[in-house]
Amino acid sequence: MIPQQTIQEIQSKIDIIEVVGEFVRLKRRGTNYLGLCPFHNEKTPSFTVSPAKEIYKCFGCGRSGNTIGFLMEHEKYSYVEALRWLANRYGIEIVESETSPEFRQQQQTADSLYILNQFAQKFFSDQLYNAEEGTDIGLSYLKERGFNDETIKKFQLGYNPAARDSFAKAALAAQYSQDLLQKSGLIVIRDNKPADNYHGRIIFPIHNQSGKVLGFGARIIAKNDRAPKYINTPENEIYVKSRILYGSYFARHAIDRENECLLVEGYTDVISLHQAGIENVVASGGTSLTPDQLRLIKKYSNNLTIIYDGDNAGIKAALRGLDLAIEEGLNVQLVLIPDKEDPDSYVRKVGADAFKDFIKSSKKDIILFQVENSLKEAGNDSTRKAALVNQIAETIARLNKAEDFTRQQDYIHRSAELMKIDEAGLTTLVNQFIREKITKEEKKAAKTAPENRTDDATPKVNDGGKDEEALFLIFKDELNERAMVRSLIEFGNKPWDDNQTVADFVFSEMEVNGLYDLLDNKKLLQMIELFKTWYEEGLAPGPKNFLYYEDVQISQLSVDITNTQDEISPKWKEYYDGPMPTREELYKQDVLSSVNYLKLRKIRRMILENQQDLEKNPTGEELLTLLQTHQHLKELEIDLTRLTGTVILR
Ligand code: UTP
Ligand code: MN
Repeated sequence: MIPQQTIQEIQSKIDIIEVVGEFVRLKRRGTNYLGLCPFHNEKTPSFTVSPAKEIYKCFGCGRSGNTIGFLMEHEKYSYVEALRWLANRYGIEIVESETSPEFRQQQQTADSLYILNQFAQKFFSDQLYNAEEGTDIGLSYLKERGFNDETIKKFQLGYNPAARDSFAKAALAAQYSQDLLQKSGLIVIRDNKPADNYHGRIIFPIHNQSGKVLGFGARIIAKNDRAPKYINTPENEIYVKSRILYGSYFARHAIDRENECLLVEGYTDVISLHQAGIENVVASGGTSLTPDQLRLIKKYSNNLTIIYDGDNAGIKAALRGLDLAIEEGLNVQLVLIPDKEDPDSYVRKVGADAFKDFIKSSKKDIILFQVENSLKEAGNDSTRKAALVNQIAETIARLNKAEDFTRQQDYIHRSAELMKIDEAGLTTLVNQFIREKITKEEKKAAKTAPENRTDDATPKVNDGGKDEEALFLIFKDELNERAMVRSLIEFGNKPWDDNQTVADFVFSEMEVNGLYDLLDNKKLLQMIELFKTWYEEGLAPGPKNFLYYEDVQISQLSVDITNTQDEISPKWKEYYDGPMPTREELYKQDVLSSVNYLKLRKIRRMILENQQDLEKNPTGEELLTLLQTHQHLKELEIDLTRLTGTVILR
């Protein structure tokens, strides 16, 4: 946990031009800065950064956000990772709250491993290029395979000499502890002495998303039946196999640009394709995809194309992760490389252009591929065929998200055609699976319901079912709610009177009159609550706390409400002839107007409820009370209407 205080300090230092400028070349244009959008291919710049608003927006592809959002989008950082990057950039120390000693210990080990791996990578690269054994054996092997210098250097390939402990000596001389060396997998104990684990092998460093070395794959050079082809880093604090996608650091921007991620099996496949100019490619390391890897891919693109060898093992491996991928909402295609080749050898054989054409023309949707493949296997066996129909229906049922509805229909249609079965029958079957799934999920949700209740507070401005007039009213209410939150976050810390701040005033009005429930947009309500929490912690919160808040919906909303164009109501001009006052000068009226409007909504709601009670044919005394209440509420309404009428109402 990073304390809010530190987050606020980071926020106050952020210079969006400086941060974005590290990744995009920006040129000044008036008050804004302009550059080539890093999120899509373009020749004329439409990527705009506003230092005043601290946001960026691309008018080409529409991506927009704040500085933290930029780091999250561009570097695929999590919110906390982005904060850490900024803290590091601006020399702010993060004193973690609520961390256990074990956690801190683990962090320290992780940091040490990164440093050691960097040292090792440099050592191996140096050996490859600057030592005789390295060039004679390692470099010549890589060159023979067709890798050029640029590629070798880009992927930081290296060589570990054949002597039993050349790396061990260097690392121990550089004061790395034996413990750490063993943990990293670089060193093992042989005959009671530290020895190189990868001696005589080509080294492939494995990078994380920001380019730090997590571990290594070490390939044997000469064929040897007794030794494994690759030795990989053992699991440790930073090398967690199930979360690693080889090449993701080099591929991330290309995947973003192409909106497609190619998945291959091996290190050499990734490197060869890169050298051929196909850069949106990562490798799974020869095993089937894990949920973590799928999620990682999904960060970059929804379109996954699996390119595997055409042998049976390849097909099986591809199909194993299928259900998971579908559940994650990925659009998965499959390409099988023919003739016992792998992507590395195939691209070398046919060349980059033919390879790209081949991928494009032989891509097959993986669900339909599964249907075809299983049909072939089932032959004329009707039991197996029936099982297949069930299996496909279940797979299609997994696509049960609103946005996938048309895709689902399409799959039903095409699968039914392939299996030569009745489409309506398949639809029924799919629906059965969907119902089963929903029932299961409901049961699960019921168990966790109390904690989950606040989670679905999604804002809804336009509700499709409402008629237009109601929509307009909702919208007007929404506008007022926004004005209210805007006043609070911009002026909350200013004095209201001698005894209280604007925030004190707003909170007590809300509390006393029970106004919190009235806010329809739950995200706005959440903003008020957030402000309250921070305010009560003595933090003097402001717009920046929201601009850089973790929840992007809130961040976006805060940008929307604080950057509204018409700063002052046009109505003001009807009453006032002098120089236009600023929002700043009018903040009290602004706040009062918002609070009163909310009160008015409350009164109107009460009038409505009262009327409903009146319609229930109440008896004598009840009727009298209801009528008196009605009278009283109407008076309040008139008062409030007058009040909100005389102050500036947007
Ligand atoms: P491959 O045997 O296809 O190797 O294994 P490759 O990458 O094509 O290597 P070359 O082209 O023969 O030199 C695919 C991947 O499976 C993992 C590695 O990640 C490898 O890249 N693997 C394979 C291992 O981890 N250990 C092994 O012993 C073999
Ligand atoms: Mn290969």
